[in-house]
Amino acid sequence: MSLLERIDISKLPVHIAIIMDGNGRWAKKQNKPRVFGHQSGASAVKRTIEGSAELGIKYLTLYAFSAENWNRPKTEVEALMSLLVSTIDKELNNLIKNNIRFDVIGNLSLLPASVKRKVDFAIEKTNRCTGMLLTLALSYGGRWEITNAVKKIAEDAAKGLLNPQDITGKIFATYLTTANMPDPELLIRTSGELRLSNFLLWQSAYTELYFTDVMWPDFNKEELYKAVLSFQNRERRFGKTTEQL
Ligand code: FPP
Repeated sequence: MSLLERIDISKLPVHIAIIMDGNGRWAKKQNKPRVFGHQSGASAVKRTIEGSAELGIKYLTLYAFSAENWNRPKTEVEALMSLLVSTIDKELNNLIKNNIRFDVIGNLSLLPASVKRKVDFAIEKTNRCTGMLLTLALSYGGRWEITNAVKKIAEDAAKGLLNPQDITGKIFATYLTTANMPDPELLIRTSGELRLSNFLLWQSAYTELYFTDVMWPDFNKEELYKAVLSFQNRERRFGKTTEQL
């Protein structure tokens, strides 16, 4: 039986989040510039979006650029930004054709104006799509997001719109950039690193983590299926005992 045939379509993770790591090391191993790794990473992004949509995943969130990535050499930051713009240009029609809605989360005020415009354009062009929601985390950091939510909550409390006694986890989550989606059920990280790196810190409290040594540019549909199969073989207890489930 193929990997795909082994997947139980009735038990898919509703939301998959991915930390796409290893582009630079993948390129270095072939004596190529890091940017070559990112370009190949963009092809892996395309395969992953296709594979997820074909399976019937409802939410796919990709960590495309972290808040900390601004500290990389200027040339690499510029290359990543221009790759983002050119990939949107190339793939926007495909997204629309496949009924995929595009969105971004992160501190977008830091993005160059041309990138922000392109991103807004893609969001608007796909806003009537009803299939998978593809979210790119761009200039995103979990601590930034949580701090930002706290600021907004404090403002609302000061305005009298919110009573501090009434704040629950559920209300808190409505102040996060992910308010429109369920928490990820499966989080994949490539390249053998075993960290969350400031990605979806609040949202991943009960997420199943899947780590693979595969470098992001080598990630493909089969690797996605392996991650989903691993998820389907786990028992999610949310703090309860096996007998209680
Ligand atoms: C990690 O590799 C990847 C990134 C910093 C960004 C992810 C970007 C892409 C997959 C390219 C295109 C994306 C889109 C959405 C078009 P790394 O540079 O940290 O690798 P390293 O850890 O081996 O140095």
